[in-house]
Order: sequence, then structure tokens, then C-alpha cells
Amino acid sequence: MDSGYGITVLTLFPDLVREYFRTSIVGKAVDRGALVPRVVDIRDFARDRHRTCDDAPYGGGAGMVLMAEPLASALDSVDAKAQHVVFPTPSGLPFRQVDAARLSRKDGLVLVCGRYEGIDQRIVDEYVDDEYSIGDYVLSSGELAAMVIIDAVYRLRDGMLRSESIREESFQDGLLEYPHYTRPETFRSRSVPEVLLSGHHARIVRWRREQQLIRTARNRPDLLRHVQLDEAERKLTESIRDKESDDECNTGG
Ligand code: ADE
Repeated sequence: MDSGYGITVLTLFPDLVREYFRTSIVGKAVDRGALVPRVVDIRDFARDRHRTCDDAPYGGGAGMVLMAEPLASALDSVDAKAQHVVFPTPSGLPFRQVDAARLSRKDGLVLVCGRYEGIDQRIVDEYVDDEYSIGDYVLSSGELAAMVIIDAVYRLRDGMLRSESIREESFQDGLLEYPHYTRPETFRSRSVPEVLLSGHHARIVRWRREQQLIRTARNRPDLLRHVQLDEAERKLTESIRDKESDDECNTGG
């Protein structure tokens, strides 16, 4: 990857977002120039001396709405209309690994972080390309969701990680990941599964696939609909699903 991936975040909490870009693996990507962050404080574009950015919703109701004018000025200041704009919101489409992959192929991103009840819909209509939810719960503001999206996207850029580990990890093949072990061989009388010490590559690959199927059948059976299974795999996942639903009936869960 030649030039860095530009990520612009519009926020009312610039310190929170700046800290994220300074930290850990993301911080290293920024130091290398692989990731080029820009954090814009929406309040700098407020129209009054109190730096007001929110107001009561038309039609009544609880909470406050981010006003169109400061947001539009902030977006124009970064030439957002020429870029791909993402708005994290609990009302958006579920954000998935395939979306992260698609966004990682853009030249860069602009993320708009909302606060309070949301942002003026006219901003969404005029500027936003994608609205994404990171899960079925409501956060107090969009910054954490924006950071989740950024994290999932930037690491997929070419050269960010060994392509092998990207290829093997959860969701790339539609299944959850298999369990991992490292030294020591025995920890508090729990031993590493024998097959992983066998040096027998084909057996290891088979064991890992089986573990992926077991985990996925237990934790995310919905994902199995999109995965091609052979006869033995289908039987294995069905037996786990049957057992899980029996357990639920017996515990009243
Ligand atoms: N903002 C608040 N909650 C959110 C969620 N679940 N996903 C994305 N953005 C949000």
C-alpha cells in the first residue's frame, strides 16, 4: 500500500478520538503513515459564542438533536461530498466484516459521530453514504461505534497484517475462529489438545475446521445458513444445535 488511508472523524469529543489514534496498533499504523487521521471538533463550526451544536426536536420528544448548520460547515471544511461518508447509528444496517472489507477498498473515510437523540436528517440525506449499527444496543454517542468501524476497516488494508492471519480469522470464511494455544504445553493441569502437538498438518486442519463448526453452531447458528457444509459437517452442526435447544428447554432459557 503506497499512500496512507485517510480517516476523518467529526466529533464533539475530539480528545477521545485523538487518544484512540495515538494508542496501540492503530498508533503504530499512524506513525508509519499507513493511516492518516484527521479529527474535527464540530463545536468549532457552531454559530454562536456558546458553541451550541444541538437543539430540541421539531414535533417534540425527549433529547436533543445535532443541528444541521454546524455539521454541514464541518463536513464542507473537509470536502466530505468528495469522500465516502459513514454515519454510525443504532438505526443503521448491521456492520459486518463484508462491510469492513468494502470500506477498506475506498480511498478513505469520513465518519460523523452523533450525540443525543441523533442528527438532523437533512445532513444524512445530503452527505451520508452508509449508516451502520455496530449492535443491538444504544451507546450514548457515536464515537465508540466510529472507532469500532475504523478498527475493523484499517486493519484490512493491504500490508497491515500478514495476509494469512486475515484469511484465517473469524468471519472471513463465514465461521467463528477455532481455539488458539501457545506455550506452555500444560497450564494449571490443562493441556494443549494433543492433535496440535502432533505435527500432522492434515489432522490439525481437520480439527480446526471441526472446532470452528462446533463454536459457530453453539454461539452463532445463524451464520451456518451461508456456509457450505459437507454431509458429516451438517450432521455435526445439527447435533450441536439439537443439544443446545434441548438444554434451553431444560433450563427454561
Ligand atoms: N450510536 C449509538 N449506538 C450505536 C450503535 N449501536 N451502533 C452505531 N452507532 C451508535
